[in-house]
Amino acid sequence: MAKIEQEILARERQTMRDFEARPFLPRRPAPDLGVDRIDGARFFDPAFMLQEWQHIWTKTWQIVCRVADFETAGSFVVHELGKESFLFVRGEDGEIRGFYNVCQHRGNRLCVAEQGELTHFTCPFHGWQWHIDGTLKKVADPQFFRQFSGGVPADELGLQRVRVDQWGGWLWFTMNDHAVGLRDYLGELGHHLETYEFEKFDLIDYQTFEWNGNWKHAVDAFNESYHFAELHPDMVEFGEGHDIPIEIEGIHSRMLNFNSTVSEIVPDRDTMTPLRASIMLAGGELPGYQGSAKDVHLALMQARRAKEHETHLPFKRMNDEQLVHQYHYTFFPNATFTQSAGAAFVFRYRPHATDPNRCYYDFFILANLPAGTPKRRVEHKVHSHTSLHDYAQAFEGTFHPVFANVLAQDGSNMETMQAGVKSDSFKGMLLSDQELRLRHFHQTIDAFIAGTVHANRTPRA
Ligand code: FES
Ligand SMILES: [Fe+2]
Repeated sequence: MAKIEQEILARERQTMRDFEARPFLPRRPAPDLGVDRIDGARFFDPAFMLQEWQHIWTKTWQIVCRVADFETAGSFVVHELGKESFLFVRGEDGEIRGFYNVCQHRGNRLCVAEQGELTHFTCPFHGWQWHIDGTLKKVADPQFFRQFSGGVPADELGLQRVRVDQWGGWLWFTMNDHAVGLRDYLGELGHHLETYEFEKFDLIDYQTFEWNGNWKHAVDAFNESYHFAELHPDMVEFGEGHDIPIEIEGIHSRMLNFNSTVSEIVPDRDTMTPLRASIMLAGGELPGYQGSAKDVHLALMQARRAKEHETHLPFKRMNDEQLVHQYHYTFFPNATFTQSAGAAFVFRYRPHATDPNRCYYDFFILANLPAGTPKRRVEHKVHSHTSLHDYAQAFEGTFHPVFANVLAQDGSNMETMQAGVKSDSFKGMLLSDQELRLRHFHQTIDAFIAGTVHANRTPRA
């Protein structure tokens, strides 16, 4: 148990009422998932990658983008996942539909733009066309097709649908017609996140970094805080990731990162240094704060609770932990919400189409801004693996430089992890209890591949 946990538990509970999201503290016992090593081949073996495609990517729910991206009828977004490309578009009837982005003539990618507005889709090869509801509009010169002598079979030639659903202002999709509904899929952790009223959040930044590592290295990099002490020397100055509560919920998991405190691994937890002040006090919510640096979270929690009726933020729905600390949720297989009271960093990890040694790390920054804040269109920036990522430059204006540097530190391990797990000498990952979510994640992958766990409505025979 971290010192901060003892400090919080030693105090009287501040708010004596029930909240929708169950607090982490007092900590619940974690399940015993064993101590077996996790093999390295899963990170580079093409056969394993194919199994993941067949049993996980094509079977689970995935984030597409914000629903707000579909402003008008004809607004569309193209989303790539592995070898597939999908086209999502708002119809004249207001419904957002999803399709495989594949021309029904000879299989060309129908739409190559990532985002825009169109009245219909035209394949650039021979000019077949589709309406924005996915129905066939026109076959070019149908008289050349003997198959159509009795009439063009419009039903057969419509764009192939995928299921979509919305949650928290996000559009999600699945290739699996038999999957449980999205809300059921997200389970209790989805319910927790609803307390932040995500649908009111605005997208501030959206960037993709191609990393030279398998997508699972990226998931693993963010699902434990055991690495903070070594990899992120700045972060221990204004947060606690040392010995933190972890919970497993079905195929998903969460952990609690304490904000606005100083880690127990730092000898001086009291002095308010410039770095600590710039992160913990710069929001201006605690004018004249003179207390210990490690106790900022307590003062902040009280201040936020005191104004729960005066803010646009849904503090009334949040438990005391949520007011200040960071709830970190990962929905299997590839969506992570690092969630604070008024802002979120959402990560999505995508496999490369053909190469298990590469992946895409998608980074969304969102904030619940006061009403009347001017909306601005966010350009999706993509950083290819061939460029040396400059995170400070990439996040200029949207992300504190200290956090941009933290991300650079996280990204720095992708290539070296990918190389290291291929060594003949590597005996498999030896995971600590603070890395329980990684163990659970890899066991869940194995269970999906084995067919003992799945996302379908009815249990498999
Ligand atoms: S491949 Fe699309 S119209 Fe021919
Ligand atoms: Fe990290």
